[in-house]
Amino acid sequence: MDKKFKRTTVTSALPYANGPVHIGHLAGVYVPADIYVRYLRLKGEDVVFIGGSDEHGVPVTIRAKKEGCTPQDVVDRYHKIIKDSFQEFGISFDVYSRTTSQTHHKIASDFFRTIYDKNGFIEKTSDQYYDEEAKTFLADRYIVGECPRCHAQGAYGDQCEKCGSALSPEELINPVSKLSGAKPVLRSTKHWYLPLDKHEEWLRKWILEDHKEWRTNVYGQCKSWLDTGLQPRAVSRDLEWGIPVPVEGAEGKVLYVWFDAPIGYISNTKEMCENNPEKYGDWEKWWKDPETRLIHFIGKDNIVFHCIVFPAMLKAEGSFILPDNVPSNEFLNLEGDKISTSRNWAVWLNEYLVDFPGKQDTLRYVLTANAPETKDNDFTWKDFQTRNNSELVAIYGNFVNRALVLTQKYFDGKVPSLSQLADYDQETLKEFADVKAKLENLLDNFKFRDAQKEAMNLARIGNKYLAETEPWKLAKTDMERTASILHIGLQIAANLAIAFEPFLPFSSEKLRKMLNMQTFDWNQLGKIDLLKTGAELGKAELLFDKIEDDAIDAQMQRLANIKKENEKNNWQPEPVNGQSTIDDFAKLDIRVGTVLECQKVKKSDKLLQFKIEDGMGGRTILSGIAKSYPDPNELVGKQICFVANFPVRKMMGIDSQGMILSAVNSDGNLVVVSPSKKTANGVQVG
Ligand code: 2FM
Ligand code: ZN
Repeated sequence: MDKKFKRTTVTSALPYANGPVHIGHLAGVYVPADIYVRYLRLKGEDVVFIGGSDEHGVPVTIRAKKEGCTPQDVVDRYHKIIKDSFQEFGISFDVYSRTTSQTHHKIASDFFRTIYDKNGFIEKTSDQYYDEEAKTFLADRYIVGECPRCHAQGAYGDQCEKCGSALSPEELINPVSKLSGAKPVLRSTKHWYLPLDKHEEWLRKWILEDHKEWRTNVYGQCKSWLDTGLQPRAVSRDLEWGIPVPVEGAEGKVLYVWFDAPIGYISNTKEMCENNPEKYGDWEKWWKDPETRLIHFIGKDNIVFHCIVFPAMLKAEGSFILPDNVPSNEFLNLEGDKISTSRNWAVWLNEYLVDFPGKQDTLRYVLTANAPETKDNDFTWKDFQTRNNSELVAIYGNFVNRALVLTQKYFDGKVPSLSQLADYDQETLKEFADVKAKLENLLDNFKFRDAQKEAMNLARIGNKYLAETEPWKLAKTDMERTASILHIGLQIAANLAIAFEPFLPFSSEKLRKMLNMQTFDWNQLGKIDLLKTGAELGKAELLFDKIEDDAIDAQMQRLANIKKENEKNNWQPEPVNGQSTIDDFAKLDIRVGTVLECQKVKKSDKLLQFKIEDGMGGRTILSGIAKSYPDPNELVGKQICFVANFPVRKMMGIDSQGMILSAVNSDGNLVVVSPSKKTANGVQVG
């Protein structure tokens, strides 16, 4: 760590507590943050890892309305699910609290009040859309209408997804409230704004000149915001769910969720310190001491809030430090498509654990191997399987297992002695001697993907060493040399347990027990005296298991089903055909009949042959709906509608005397049209 800092406060974005967390969250924010914190802890540095749930905001209220419960019920449920998932995946927060806590309400309120008292806000009254039926002002996302640019329907109040234009709600043509379907009306309302324009100058210098080392995606996004020019941002909303704006005349107004959420980092730190003062000391040192380094781990949609808005808030408040770095990732896609909560296109952490119990490290490994550090990246189930089977099992697991099992077999499970180093041993040791420096350089620069590769490289070195020295063969002729080889092999395994701890904590713990290591010390990395000669080892177990094809096929099938379901839900009625007249309609003679018989036409997979009682002596009609009715018998006895005056048409050698009317369903299946009450056969439809 940079000499000027004594300690590090690491935060990770507070996820919204209105749904469970998925692999995108884990890959983008929580695994990298956890790797970093575990690394610092192993080095013995003073670090805290702050997390929590973001529990305010409009989406929570909408979900509550939909489910007929209170917003508090919604966040209680998801806070628990999210917290449990993080714990199961070994995300080692020092605190995981929530923005509905008492502590947070007070801290966020006081924070606002301090800025308010320093005249750090501007008050503005403006016209905003109001839904008279739902009795609420509408967030931009909850107003839809026609795009003023491309005229697509369904454009949102902040953006048209068809042409990509950024919009403001007043620009929409025929705006409609998504909450009630009502036409919203403009109403004037007062809000408090953080004048970002007044902060622009120092922000520009602080980011563009003093923090050139930030990741290019972060730096670039900030530059683009700054170059466009910053505008005042409202920090309050007309809403019932949230922290009341603590000034007079602000009834019915709460702090904007993006104002209170980052303050949650501070509140949660305070809660952590108050719960365990001996361990953490006074909370203020983690947020106010210039010798503390503040790092925010976030996803790319949070960049502007953490690099521009929150620093402006901290500066306006006046007593806090600013972030030193904001290592933001890009997005992770799933099987080539954007992860989407609303379309259920995700791998949910709670569901993953049901399907792959005990395989937390495999997911951590794959997500880091594909971390979207510099560009969006893709998660595929095939890659997941390959990385597990060909890397974790075949390289790391295989090496460790060999070293341990051979030691059990030939040396009674005790670390054998090292007598002399052969040339090949020297070469091998040279190869891994600089692993510590390499890992540190990568981890200090937030390059977790490359760092994990480096750790795996150490396993490759070990694997190659055993494969080439073949101690299982030497054991027949040269026990002394066998002992030396296994001694070195076990030392490499002990190094692996340490090197992988930040990435694969569960496997490292397992390996630590197998090697009977008392503690881990980062500073031992690269050394070959981690295990003492003669020390007794624990029981050898497999570090990783193979993942079979059927487990992957089941996941692929699940995604295929979701895709199908989404396609069905995205179905839209065909546009209405050009005009026709009553005279056009009158030309068709549509009648009701009863199905007497219905069977498949031989050699045709499409046609069904109907015998219809039509009140006029009966008729045969062929209809191409066989795929939609695999059991044609279900139609026998039903009344249907048919066109009675089409000319006779021969198909597959059979005369068809008309056409049965069917509706084409959203999934492409055909459904025969029936009268809603029993009628006489042969009556006309008109
Ligand atoms: O994007 C999100 O999921 C937000 N809930 C992140 C908030 S981060 C911080 F400000 F709390
Ligand atoms: Zn448009």
